Amino acid sequence: MTKACNPAFSRKALAAITAINFSALPVCAGEVEVLHWWTSGGEAKAAQSLKASLQLKGHSWKDFAVAGGGGDSAMTVLKSRVVSGNAPAAAQIKGPSLQDWAREGVLANIDDVAKAGHWDDLLPKVVSDQMKFKGSYIAVPVNVHRVNWLWINPQAFKRAGAKAPSNWDEFFVAAEALKKAGLIPVAHGGQNWQDLTLFEDVALGVGGSDFYRQALVQLDQAALNSATMEKVLGTFKRVKAYTDKNSPGRDWNLASAMVIKGEAGMQFMGDWAKGEFIAAGKAPGKDFICTPSPGSAKAFTYNIDSFAMFKLKNETNSLAQKDLAATIMGPEFQETFSLNKGSIPVRVGVKMDKFDECAKQSSSDFGSSAKAGTLLPSIAHGMAVPSAVEGAIKDAISQFWNSDRMSAREAMQQIATAARTK
Ligand code: BGC
Repeated sequence: MTKACNPAFSRKALAAITAINFSALPVCAGEVEVLHWWTSGGEAKAAQSLKASLQLKGHSWKDFAVAGGGGDSAMTVLKSRVVSGNAPAAAQIKGPSLQDWAREGVLANIDDVAKAGHWDDLLPKVVSDQMKFKGSYIAVPVNVHRVNWLWINPQAFKRAGAKAPSNWDEFFVAAEALKKAGLIPVAHGGQNWQDLTLFEDVALGVGGSDFYRQALVQLDQAALNSATMEKVLGTFKRVKAYTDKNSPGRDWNLASAMVIKGEAGMQFMGDWAKGEFIAAGKAPGKDFICTPSPGSAKAFTYNIDSFAMFKLKNETNSLAQKDLAATIMGPEFQETFSLNKGSIPVRVGVKMDKFDECAKQSSSDFGSSAKAGTLLPSIAHGMAVPSAVEGAIKDAISQFWNSDRMSAREAMQQIATAARTK
């Protein structure tokens, strides 16, 4: 039951009056509607930990889950809700899109929460910059996912006599061995965001970090129209022969399940896939192996989940919304959430002792790649370019992946044109 309360008399003020019996006082219990797309096994467990943390503060959680990996469906639903003047309190929005939404004037300023929580000191600058619009926080970061991972079933590899690949030549040797052993070499979900996830891994592994940055972050036309790009596209398309005929339309978590069950040998996916392995009771190093996607060990493509906070009219709900933001940046939540989600904490200084080897490697590679200049935003996960450009490139990549006729050269021209989308 929501008790009547004076929003100005906030939890903070209550905390100051230590002599009073807390539970007897009317606490400002608000409701926070949260839009997200965390519906798979591992994702749902992680989302549940966020809901529980909010409820612990006395607020209620209104779930607004829109299924669909990568979040394209969620973004479409969000647009129609905001246009009709009915925005949720918080929505999972990432990367440059945060700026687009802020420019619309619909996001709330949460500088007071950020200041009280010392966010500027606790976040890498590359992250805090993205959470701010005109110098003010409008979003809270949740975690850091690494995209350039390859997930391997070691039993399947053993059966095929295959070795975990560290470059693309080795990848094709392993894929061939798995195929000969009667296994599906690559579990792929043929949805455009998964095609682009694989493509960016190939671009990084075949072209290298500088090429990745020039072509997929800076959208440099010379890099997009280069011999390297043609080679990347050729390599990307070669992978298709190692996927199964049921891959079109498959959800990413079903592809993970194929690796978990040993029907398939490997999957290219960010480390939210680890959340699926863990939720299925599998242990890293034993039941599954995480290794950087071929040729990308020294680089790190990042994908930072974040929640943008929308302007609300109801003052109590707005206080609850701020409590949600503060909770997300809390060290306990940062740990629990990432343990379930497969990611690493975004807040610096969170202890990694409860995390597994994959997460520890991710954490150390995040730091070393930042120093080496090989920390790169994932284009497939909304980190690198405006969403309209990403959408156009994504369509061109999938068209090439699905076509029997389109040459790498034709695809290259289409992608270069897509990169000019305004
Ligand atoms: C999100 C992850 C999510 C994944 C699959 C990514 O874009 O950042 O949080 O688990 O999509 O839905």
